[in-house]
Amino acid sequence: MKIIVFGANGQIGKILIDKIKKEGTHEVTAAVRKEEQAKDFQSKGVKGLLVDLEGSVEELTKVIRGHDAVVFSAGSGGKTGPDKTLLVDLDGAVKTMEAASKAGTKRYLMVSALQANNRKNWNQKIRPYYVAKHYADRCLAESGLDFTIVRPGGLTNDKGAGKVAISEQLERGKVSREDVATVLLASLEEEKTIGKAFDLTEGDKSFKDALGGL
Ligand SMILES: NC(=O)c1ccc[n+]([C@@H]2O[C@H](COP(=O)([O-])OP(=O)(O)OC[C@H]3O[C@@H](n4cnc5c(N)ncnc54)[C@H](OP(=O)(O)O)[C@@H]3O)[C@@H](O)[C@H]2O)c1
Repeated sequence: MKIIVFGANGQIGKILIDKIKKEGTHEVTAAVRKEEQAKDFQSKGVKGLLVDLEGSVEELTKVIRGHDAVVFSAGSGGKTGPDKTLLVDLDGAVKTMEAASKAGTKRYLMVSALQANNRKNWNQKIRPYYVAKHYADRCLAESGLDFTIVRPGGLTNDKGAGKVAISEQLERGKVSREDVATVLLASLEEEKTIGKAFDLTEGDKSFKDALGGL
């Protein structure tokens, strides 16, 4: 499978790309917004393509064309305001969905956030972020793409525990970025995850059992 990762230079993105490279079954492209980031990836033997999520659907279509799957793990982050949340986390994400459709790339994995689907459970301090995640996920579910929406709890940089909980609704909890990356790669390889959206936290199940239970 040829996979393109948006947010490739981010923390989950980098771990995922390393995992894909190490596993060796798939080809991976890093979609990044700065020349030096593309060069860094190229020096590690990973194709780097320059594109800004604030750019046009046409530009995004060009970089997605030729890939079998899109992973969206980008985000404007906590240091910018709700304007960037709208432009990147919502519109940026939806533009990649439109671009994937135009490019004929059917498979699409979204890194969302725990309970983004359920307004009652949003963290009220970052409501605009949840609004963006919620509507991006809804657009994806209605896009006709072969989607999987992974909704992790609070992200940590701990070493992967190798055990997770996966369910339609989980209590607030945390999960390491490494385990999120493993779930993303395992989801790409498990057809059962197509058309599914689920919360993800630390837990007591192996990746295989957790995804197999969907
Ligand atoms: N933090 C949490 O607890 C939490 C919980 C649940 C879900 N999430 C979600 O998890 C995902 C990944 O998290 P992370 O920790 O890996 O995030 P991260 O390290 O902040 O990475 C985000 C990436 O998005 C890229 N990006 C931002 N704006 C862009 C634009 N206009 N065009 C292209 N790329 C752009 C950034 O590029 P640069 O490297 O150039 O800055 C960065 O590489 C995000 O979608 C986040 O919303 C986070």
